[in-house]
Amino acid sequence: MDLDKLMSKHLSRYFDGSRTIPDETLQQLLKFLRSAPTSTNIQPNHFYVLSTREGKERLAANLGERFQDNAEKVLNASHTIILTTRADIPEHHLDAVFAKERADGRFADAAKQERWEFMTRDFLNLRRYGYKDEYHWMEKQTYMVMGLTMMAAAELGVEAMPLEGFDPVSVDKAFDIRATGYTTTVLLALGYPDEAKQYKTPVSRFEPERLFTFA
Ligand SMILES: Cc1cc2nc3c(=O)[nH]c(=O)nc-3n(C[C@H](O)[C@H](O)[C@H](O)COP(=O)(O)O)c2cc1C
Repeated sequence: MDLDKLMSKHLSRYFDGSRTIPDETLQQLLKFLRSAPTSTNIQPNHFYVLSTREGKERLAANLGERFQDNAEKVLNASHTIILTTRADIPEHHLDAVFAKERADGRFADAAKQERWEFMTRDFLNLRRYGYKDEYHWMEKQTYMVMGLTMMAAAELGVEAMPLEGFDPVSVDKAFDIRATGYTTTVLLALGYPDEAKQYKTPVSRFEPERLFTFA
């Protein structure tokens, strides 16, 4: 990965609609996405991977009136992922996490797994009743997964463009997401840039003095 290049380029707002991510590359990216860590291994996400014309058009048509400028990005991207997050943490979700950890042999012995499950429940109770930010906390995990996926895409030579410009109620409705217990958090368009339309100006970020405190 060329970090210098990554640091000096704008995110791609314009994709080349004629190019598709090869399946092998996509599978590698999704494999990486699946491997991304989340706090307490809560894995609060479900991902809708849109690659068909029908899927992309359904998303583009349901971004909401004020976000129409993102429709072209979705339509020309090779793939767009709808990253959804659980609206809450029902017992059956926790059961599924713990059952998978046991099946995968995450901990060397049953006592450690049990301790882990106790600690996880304790931490979740803190989020739910103490910090009262259970959903917000889960969405933070979603953003981290997205950030890691953006880096993995760069490594694979794929452009990744996060999109917050959409109406989540409208997208949830279009894909019948809410009935599943999840809700849309953010979109990630993936593909190859339309070079003729890429911004060539310098990127603008704060100076290090404003950002870093060394102690
Ligand atoms: C989480 C996130 C969501 C974004 N959502 C949108 C969006 O919906 N539409 C859009 O055109 N740009 C979107 N952007 C692009 C940002 O506006 C852009 O990265 C920022 O202004 C910096 O510009 P640069 O990438 O050209 O340096 C988003 C970026 C991030 C990180």
